[in-house]
Amino acid sequence: MAESHVEPTIEVVDDPASLARAAADAIARVVHAEGPVTIVPATGETPVDTYAELADRHARGAFDASAVSVVQLDEYVGIEREDRRTLFGWMDRTVLTPLGIDARRVARLPTDGDLVAACAAFDAALAERGGIDLAILGLGANGHLGFNEPPSDAASVTRPVQLTPATIAANARYWGSENEVPTRAVTLGLSTLLEAGEILLLVSGEAKHEIVRRALEGPVGEDVPASFVREARGSVTVLVDRAAWDGQ
Ligand code: GLP
Repeated sequence: MAESHVEPTIEVVDDPASLARAAADAIARVVHAEGPVTIVPATGETPVDTYAELADRHARGAFDASAVSVVQLDEYVGIEREDRRTLFGWMDRTVLTPLGIDARRVARLPTDGDLVAACAAFDAALAERGGIDLAILGLGANGHLGFNEPPSDAASVTRPVQLTPATIAANARYWGSENEVPTRAVTLGLSTLLEAGEILLLVSGEAKHEIVRRALEGPVGEDVPASFVREARGSVTVLVDRAAWDGQ
């Protein structure tokens, strides 16, 4: 029997500031619901203002993250775990520390040893504790979610991956040059992400216009991994600013 899916809710907002407020509202609704909550917070530039808005609310006593556990979305392989350029370091500076989330409530992806086995164990432990309640995701310029690079299919599990030239080029600005960017990474798999209770996909800026339209209006398939949000188990909200939606 074919599974039926609820269409994503697409909410077009005026500008990045409105996007940050709307995203913070959506996150607060989930986090302030009864009981413990497991979230996956993407790094990348798009959600930075959202996390800053949450940090502001937290400082004013209007956002309480005490029930939140965090699962890391993606990470580079081949750099020291203490290096500030790890995505964990980025998440620590933008999410964990500003929101007062203790390191003991964070599941950090494995980056050494037998990565296939360690990632499988990570998925199993995550499923055991009830999976993801809310995944806050960004959209790669090549259609990736986390580091699920094209081609990635909906059944992909948490695993080591090779980064594509497009992603290496997009991330070169954080590393000085393309040669410095790690070429390998680990990522939560699409199958893990698509099981989340809720997905909040944040998309901002004209440069994402073509890919957001392909993801939401083109064929669903592994060439645009983000297109699989249209087959997610839970609810999906895409918050997109007008520059990204209209391309101008
Ligand atoms: C990066 C990250 C993703 C992120 C995406 C979009 O490479 N691995 O987790 O969501 O690309 O980044 P940005 O928001 O900076 O466009």
